[in-house]
Amino acid sequence: MTIQTRTLGNTGPQVSALGLGCMGMSALYGDVDRTESIATIHAALDAGVTLLDTGDFYAMGHNEMLIGEALRAAPAAQREQALISVKFGALRDPDGGWTGYDGRPAAVKNFAAYSLQRLGVDHIDVYRIARLDPHVPIEETVGAIAELVEKGWVRHIGLSEVGADTIRRAAATAPIADLQIEYSLISRGIEEEVLPTTRELGIGITAYGVLSRGLISGHFTAERQLGANDFRAISPRFQGENLQHNLNLVEALRKIAEQKGVTVAQIAIAWVLSRGTDIVPLVGARTRQRLTESLGALDVTLDEADLAAIERAVPADAAAGDRYPAAQMAHLGSK
Ligand SMILES: NC(=O)c1ccc[n+]([C@@H]2O[C@H](COP(=O)([O-])OP(=O)(O)OC[C@H]3O[C@@H](n4cnc5c(N)ncnc54)[C@H](OP(=O)(O)O)[C@@H]3O)[C@@H](O)[C@H]2O)c1
Repeated sequence: MTIQTRTLGNTGPQVSALGLGCMGMSALYGDVDRTESIATIHAALDAGVTLLDTGDFYAMGHNEMLIGEALRAAPAAQREQALISVKFGALRDPDGGWTGYDGRPAAVKNFAAYSLQRLGVDHIDVYRIARLDPHVPIEETVGAIAELVEKGWVRHIGLSEVGADTIRRAAATAPIADLQIEYSLISRGIEEEVLPTTRELGIGITAYGVLSRGLISGHFTAERQLGANDFRAISPRFQGENLQHNLNLVEALRKIAEQKGVTVAQIAIAWVLSRGTDIVPLVGARTRQRLTESLGALDVTLDEADLAAIERAVPADAAAGDRYPAAQMAHLGSK
């Protein structure tokens, strides 16, 4: 099947207008189901999704090996169409702790060598450091990826969660296809400075957290029990009064969704799609059912009246709570 496509920036690849973010299939959102995860990746490829996003640190290689297994079992044509976007650089310990970032050129090449092996591919389509390494100039990290591009191990260079100044410095070093950054109805920090900068420089956006990690999906309830292995258990937006406030926003959104005969998740994804053809939402579907719902957003058209109603229901700064705990906010280039 084919679905709508978008191009990542002036120099990046053409990809399906929705990408599949595979992180939750291995880590950060509680228990995982390998069989359903692989079935979801196959269903996405079947539906025409070509962009798969991962990170080498999502359960320490687990997510890359999962994608590799899914691709090996997929029909050759789908395997060849799949474009894999990989984040690297986050350092972990055996307890699952996060111990920093490493963007040194030798480390970049080492990370890439392991990712190619785990994924079972001969190149990575888009390669990016997950967060800026504060001890290594971005020129050195991007320069190392550019060398991997020259050698054919990587096709395109991306960025993740960096601010305008870093974007400019990176773009002055090598062509940048896209910036991966959180963007949703309740995470609009990029609109002020980051988005104008990527647009000026011809860099695309792959937006993550378009459902704010499920918070604005319409499926999340205050009663949901979150295990210790679930990021949402420590996310400020999912705590106490913040959670109740944010779920009230979802109910306002639900009224608009019901009037249009679509779901809350579809409205939230369609809103991100409506922000510009330079933006490709990555949806974190972990099951075929959630994937089908997400793909339905591609058929939702939001007119001026819909957009105005959505803006009234969820104004730009409506969310309660930061998008990460304070220690992790410190690594971000944009609020
Ligand atoms: N660059 C970065 O710093 C960064 C950070 C985070 C993520 N990412 C990437 O972006 C991808 C997407 O992020 P995300 O997973 O946080 O995004 P998301 O789509 O906002 O959240 C996914 C969660 O929403 C819930 N959900 C409810 N209805 C859904 C539906 N119809 N479709 C999909 N999910 C639904 C799911 O929870 P249940 O399964 O419990 O229903 C799922 O775990 C990740 O997989 C990862 O590849 C990048």
